Amino acid sequence: MSLIDLDGISFRYPNGNQVLEGLSLCLEEGDKIGLLGENGTGKTTLFHIILGLLKPNKGEIYIFGKRRKTEQDFKEIRRAIGLLFQDSDDQLFCPSVIEDVAFGPLNMGMKHQEATERAERTLDELGISHLRNRVPYQLSSGEKRLVSTATILSMRPEIFLLDEPTTGLDEKTTDRLISVLQNYPAKAWIMISQIPSVIEALTDKCYRLQGGRIYPV
Ligand SMILES: Nc1ncnc2c1ncn2[C@@H]1O[C@H](COP(=O)(O)OP(=O)(O)OP(=O)(O)O)[C@@H](O)[C@H]1O
Ligand SMILES: [Mg+2]
Repeated sequence: MSLIDLDGISFRYPNGNQVLEGLSLCLEEGDKIGLLGENGTGKTTLFHIILGLLKPNKGEIYIFGKRRKTEQDFKEIRRAIGLLFQDSDDQLFCPSVIEDVAFGPLNMGMKHQEATERAERTLDELGISHLRNRVPYQLSSGEKRLVSTATILSMRPEIFLLDEPTTGLDEKTTDRLISVLQNYPAKAWIMISQIPSVIEALTDKCYRLQGGRIYPV
């Protein structure tokens, strides 16, 4: 059984902009897929479709072996699939960093103390414990990137969809994030990145999105 199976997905935005056209993609357990493609080809759109944030005009989405169509179908899978948004400001909405990182675990039903401990551990793994009490919207863009990643990691998802995780990170911080992800027990992930060394370190096969479809690289 595939973890994610997209079959013949077409999508256009309400303004008529056709972005995806008959796209198929399969994510199996153990896959670490790199997703490449020029700006505006629809990579971010594809991630939003996988999580049901946008609805395809055509095609079928199977996740964990079940067809996903309704909002309820997608609600069931959002805890298991951690989406790192391309824009960190879409990810962060709490008054403090620690609350943002504890939000997911709390939402999953964890007790306050346990969720806070997990959030603290996650910040520590990423080397950003010092940001614990900061206001997220006042952080630098690289700091926001790491805190956004922490909000995903703290939920311990089975699958990651990572939309340019290292944007704005310096070399040392990029290396630390790579090592955290390499050691994370995810079943699979798809990562969008424009940085060859990051693709090299974190993926074992790559696809290119072009003209609304996916091609092996
Ligand atoms: N809400 C919207 N309405 C209309 N068009 C949109 C909307 N959001 C995105 N687009 C367009 O859809 C296309 C795909 O956008 P998307 O953000 O998925 O591209 P991308 O491959 O992630 O690009 P980048 O590499 O720059 O992040 C682009 O042409 C974009 O301008
Ligand atoms: Mg994008």
